[in-house]
Amino acid sequence: MKRFFGRLKLSTISFSILALLLNACVPDSPGNKTVNNNGVIINGTEVPPVADLIPENISEGEQLYMEYCASCHGINLEGALNWKIPLEDGTLPPPPQDNSGHTWHHSDAILQRIVLEGGAKLYGGTMPAFDDQLTQEQAAMILDYFKSQWGKDEREYQWWITVTENK
Ligand code: HEC
Repeated sequence: MKRFFGRLKLSTISFSILALLLNACVPDSPGNKTVNNNGVIINGTEVPPVADLIPENISEGEQLYMEYCASCHGINLEGALNWKIPLEDGTLPPPPQDNSGHTWHHSDAILQRIVLEGGAKLYGGTMPAFDDQLTQEQAAMILDYFKSQWGKDEREYQWWITVTENK
């Protein structure tokens, strides 16, 4: 009996050490990210845990996306083929909105501006402005739909950049 407990304890301890080592060494992407019960920590800066999305907003956002955005960004958020290669006029084709694109690199505030004000005004792109067709709330719902489709890392990074940018 005594021996059994002794072994159990040892393996528990070595498991904890292994877990610690793994946590410290595995390079997380994007950034150097760890998550605990208190929040998301990227590059040493902690923000609160990722907010839950409201299912009704996601489905409303999906419908709006299909109506206003899917013709360019694809019905599966896949973007245009060769979206990284500039067109003859130097502008870029519509990028994907899923993990493979870089929408999740930007904060909510920036994404709202891209959708409502369009790419031309902001950086000479051809993304149309939607401020005459969508409200801020509707744009936010479309973004919620994107968020619901991103992976955990992408979602956490976008949450983190949104919170830290507002500080
Ligand atoms: C007529 C085609 C077209 C439509 C419709 C369209 N987009 Fe775009 N969008 C683009 C193009 C082209 C770009 C890349 C160039 C640019 O940013 O101006 C882009 C870029 C974007 C970006 C920036 C992505 C990044 O990684 O920086 C976001 C976000 C975006 N679109 C969201 C939307 C949403 C949401 C809708 C629907 C409300 C929509 N787009 C409708 C063509 C379109």
